[in-house]
Amino acid sequence: MKRPGWWSLDMGAPFRLGPRVLPGRVWTASGCFGYGLAAHDFVAADGSGPYAGLGAVVTKTVTPQPRTGNPMPRLVETACGALNSIGLENVGFEAFLATVLPELEARGVPTIVSLAATRPDDFGPMARRLHEAASGFAHWHGVELNLSCPNVAEGGHDFGSSPDTVARCVAAARACLPDRALLAKLTPNTADIAALAAAARDAGVDAVAAINTVVGLDVDLATGQPHLPRRFGGYSGAAIQPIALAKVDQVVRGAGVPVVGVGGIASVEDAVKFFALGAVAVQVGTAQMRDPFAAAHVAAAIGQWSSS
Ligand SMILES: Cc1cc2nc3c(=O)[nH]c(=O)nc-3n(C[C@H](O)[C@H](O)[C@H](O)COP(=O)(O)O)c2cc1C
Repeated sequence: MKRPGWWSLDMGAPFRLGPRVLPGRVWTASGCFGYGLAAHDFVAADGSGPYAGLGAVVTKTVTPQPRTGNPMPRLVETACGALNSIGLENVGFEAFLATVLPELEARGVPTIVSLAATRPDDFGPMARRLHEAASGFAHWHGVELNLSCPNVAEGGHDFGSSPDTVARCVAAARACLPDRALLAKLTPNTADIAALAAAARDAGVDAVAAINTVVGLDVDLATGQPHLPRRFGGYSGAAIQPIALAKVDQVVRGAGVPVVGVGGIASVEDAVKFFALGAVAVQVGTAQMRDPFAAAHVAAAIGQWSSS
């Protein structure tokens, strides 16, 4: 793709997000590139690697305790995307802090740590532990709060569907993260995403990430039952891009908070649509699972515009 006439972002310039300067505006999305450690041996035909030019790897979401995740199958490919119900399988916060984050730092991976919890009050202690253990790390840039989880302390509704709860989670983390970027990742499964973004803004985020997956269901014609044991899953990939673009637009225009766009991005053309609406950065999710070089290719393609 040639640089469009209206393009004004300088992809070669430092990208400031709150208290940090990140190396780029094209990131990988949480859950779609593991913890950012598995692909260091991969080399493309031109000799480049899948981390080249990435602004950040957003890690798989980490929770206070380890989680084994949902029963199989957890991932179903559909005509235009994927439906997943992973159930936040992860090693747990303390193991992540002891083993994963130091290795990301040693490998120089620009990292945003994705956190989830079942109580708003859990976010403060996790953010404080990160700050204490890793404030000297040069490559740990911030935290993304995954607010699409049931709030067990308050009846099981999703954290992310209540502006008040979004504000409580953000405020708890912000108080303990003075020198790292803080993002809240918003769900599209809500009537008014701008209200959620405004709550996150007022509570102190540096940006919101939009969107997480869209609630979906697919039926296995061999059984007549839903493919996923939990019936519903999170729909992602090419099909959700117009939904993500609409939600990003609503947040940019309705809340005036920096937005990191995510949803159905697989190419430079896809990414540029989000930047056109005012996104400050983008994340590549499902496409990264099919091709671990997808985000690096997008970053390289846009990056060339700044030097041409
Ligand atoms: C298999 C899979 C696992 C995911 N795991 C997480 C996760 O742990 N935390 C999170 O915030 N989002 C998670 N997501 C959502 C993605 O980060 C992203 O928001 C969503 O898939 C939309 O982007 P995409 O269409 O580019 O995939 C997951 C998505 C997929 C497909």
